[in-house]
Amino acid sequence: MNKKISVIGAGNVGASVAQYLAEANLADVMLVDILEGIPQGKSLDLSQAGPIRGYNCMLTGSNDPKDMKGSDIVVITAGLARKPGMTREDLLKMNADIVGTSADNIKKHAPKAFIIVVTNPLDIMTYHAFKRSGFPSNRVCGQAGVLDSTRFRTFVAMELGVAMCDVQSMVLGGHGDTMVPLPRYTTVGGIPIAELMDADKITAISARTRDGGAEIVKLLKSGSAYYAPGAASVEMVRAIMLDEKRLIPCSAMLNGEYGMKDLYIGVPVILGANGVEKIIELKLQKKELDALQKSGETYKGFLKEIGY
Ligand code: APR
Repeated sequence: MNKKISVIGAGNVGASVAQYLAEANLADVMLVDILEGIPQGKSLDLSQAGPIRGYNCMLTGSNDPKDMKGSDIVVITAGLARKPGMTREDLLKMNADIVGTSADNIKKHAPKAFIIVVTNPLDIMTYHAFKRSGFPSNRVCGQAGVLDSTRFRTFVAMELGVAMCDVQSMVLGGHGDTMVPLPRYTTVGGIPIAELMDADKITAISARTRDGGAEIVKLLKSGSAYYAPGAASVEMVRAIMLDEKRLIPCSAMLNGEYGMKDLYIGVPVILGANGVEKIIELKLQKKELDALQKSGETYKGFLKEIGY
């Protein structure tokens, strides 16, 4: 294939991204990790599923960032995963080093690439990758909103006993405790959920979505979610590769939208061949906007902790 996608970090999330990418047959996949043998072994294993699963892309593993050369998109999943009791913010300093190095390597070896950040704490790491790479903000975004929305969609579908794909939703704000699920923009086959379930249920589902990552961390005991994060990342890769102009939430740089500036946070965007092509400004109700801005303020605080 003549397109190339690199995935930094060949752990649980990185390997899931590689698997879903291969299945999507979009491009060749380069898996990069500091652990010797891991990216090579996982990519060989995934390659060997190709004849059965019907994909033809080349999957390669490497410990050398140079091998990202010529990548169209780089997905950063490198970092430490949350352990039970740890918040995403606990990971802040440890993962800032790793994401900073990753961004330096992308700048050096794949200067034309789009960057999709998956490492947590997401919105802060995305800002950090934007700053360190020096890339324009349309070429750097973070994967969180697609994951948070898909969790919301799943819970609504489970509650109502309807097809998952018929549920659409919008979750904004930071990828953490301050996330802002928007039931008003959640529909089943075009019907607002307020017409299909009572307010208490909607509140409970919003809360479960907000704690969606922690619920899985608690169950797994070591490590955090990776199947849905992997699938959500590939949805974003596909939107860019195929110029789909998807209207989806992702962590994007704000320049006055929603009353905030110089900050990455989850908002609805149009994602296409130019990356984040547009930020959609919804007419939010006061309490929704307040929640979004409060989320932004929290993240401004965390950015200071890593020197911004
Ligand atoms: N360069 C490349 N890879 C690195 C680097 C680095 N500088 N530092 C760490 N890694 C690799 C590790 O060797 C490991 O293989 O990142 C991988 C992380 O994998 P896991 O520990 O399995 O973590 P995972 O579950 O994949 O989560 C990764 O994604 O969703 C987020 O919160 C999650 O921040 C975490 C990240």
